[in-house]
Amino acid sequence: MEERAKRTAWFQQARFGLFVHWGLYAIPARGEWVRSRERIGVEEYERYFREFDPGAFDPRDWARRARAAGMEYAVMTAKHHDGFCLFDSKLTDYKSTNTPCGRDLVREFAEAMRAEGIRVGLYYSLLDWHHPDYPKYADPYHPMRGNPAFEKEKINFDRYLAYLHGQVEELVTGYGQLDILWFDFSYDSLRGEAWKATELIDLVRRHQPDVIIDNRLEASGEGFGSIVSETPAYFAGDFASPEQIIPPEGIRDALGRPVPWELCVTMNNNWGYCAADRDYKPASLLVRKLTECVSKGGNMILNVGPDAEGRFPEESCRVLEGIGRWMEKNARSIRGCGYAELPKPEWGRYTRNGGRLYAHVLEAPIGPLALTGLRKSQVGSVRLLSDGSEVLCGDSWNTGAYGDIPFVSLDSVRGLSRSWTDYDDIVLEIRLKGEE
Ligand code: GLC
Repeated sequence: MEERAKRTAWFQQARFGLFVHWGLYAIPARGEWVRSRERIGVEEYERYFREFDPGAFDPRDWARRARAAGMEYAVMTAKHHDGFCLFDSKLTDYKSTNTPCGRDLVREFAEAMRAEGIRVGLYYSLLDWHHPDYPKYADPYHPMRGNPAFEKEKINFDRYLAYLHGQVEELVTGYGQLDILWFDFSYDSLRGEAWKATELIDLVRRHQPDVIIDNRLEASGEGFGSIVSETPAYFAGDFASPEQIIPPEGIRDALGRPVPWELCVTMNNNWGYCAADRDYKPASLLVRKLTECVSKGGNMILNVGPDAEGRFPEESCRVLEGIGRWMEKNARSIRGCGYAELPKPEWGRYTRNGGRLYAHVLEAPIGPLALTGLRKSQVGSVRLLSDGSEVLCGDSWNTGAYGDIPFVSLDSVRGLSRSWTDYDDIVLEIRLKGEE
């Protein structure tokens, strides 16, 4: 547990990361599950392998965009469920270096991110729809599920596990220091030791003692596994990975101790590039969701699915830029922050970093704004985080009836003529007295 706290210290400061789902499925452009959903056979999918040639791939551009959005780490799919490897594995021919692209995309990604000061993580799919020894007929997800041609097929799952372990070894030995390993995912009887998880963790830790590992050697987006129990398994992971849902009250274990967690979330409704999916969440909403995660002691990793040319979709770029504009001025209320240990105020949320409390005011008040949860004697200076302006604090003619609740006047920084809509840039930095 102490080791976990040490390993995840940077992660819990960073709070905001980039997920990149990229692979052959960018060509059909119908999401990363296309092979399974449309039950596409290996040979038929092969055409994308023969074609893959992302001429506009420029990981330095990705890294700059992530940096500008205020992201501190980035995780890319080294292999997704379709089994295609974006790295030069010696254990398979099914890899980017054998396509017309001819490049080790993981290496270029890692180098570009590091050059921009962004920590590097790799996602590795436990499922593999290309490997001959992965279960097919009776598997709930495999593209060949229920296909009579595979009903009698004999596989040697141990051979697959040797492949999986071997590839993970390649990743943890060949690509410099990794900050995150993101395994995905466990289901039914394929959990924990079914992956030889103890051995796998030993292997990873031998080479990368500090890398942090998600909880999906045991779990998936559907549950947490033993990381939330009193006695987590050896392979319970360093953080929980709720998917497309923000835990209503953060995540704590059975003894009430906070568990590091990270919301993984798509910008539209797909992880892999989906040309027809234009349902993007606006930057202002994502900023609020990031704030919500942090206020509940969690991180957010936001996904981009680059297209077949290797470009971030235009909409994704616009969203990242929007988030970046907010982060440029308000990152201090996110990075290094966590639970405020105060009840959620009606007008927004609190995040906190030691003696500094951040009031994210999402809804304009009528008149004075009540800093609920605090006492008057606790409030030191109050500043508008985006430009450092003083925010007047103290009683006015109509606050006398509310006892010890401190009030601030947003009129002093936003004027009386503000439009009465929701705010998306108002964060107050409150210095708490006696807690510097
Ligand atoms: C799910 C999906 C997968 C995605 C992952 C990210 O488990 O299978 O496509 O990579 O979630 O959390």
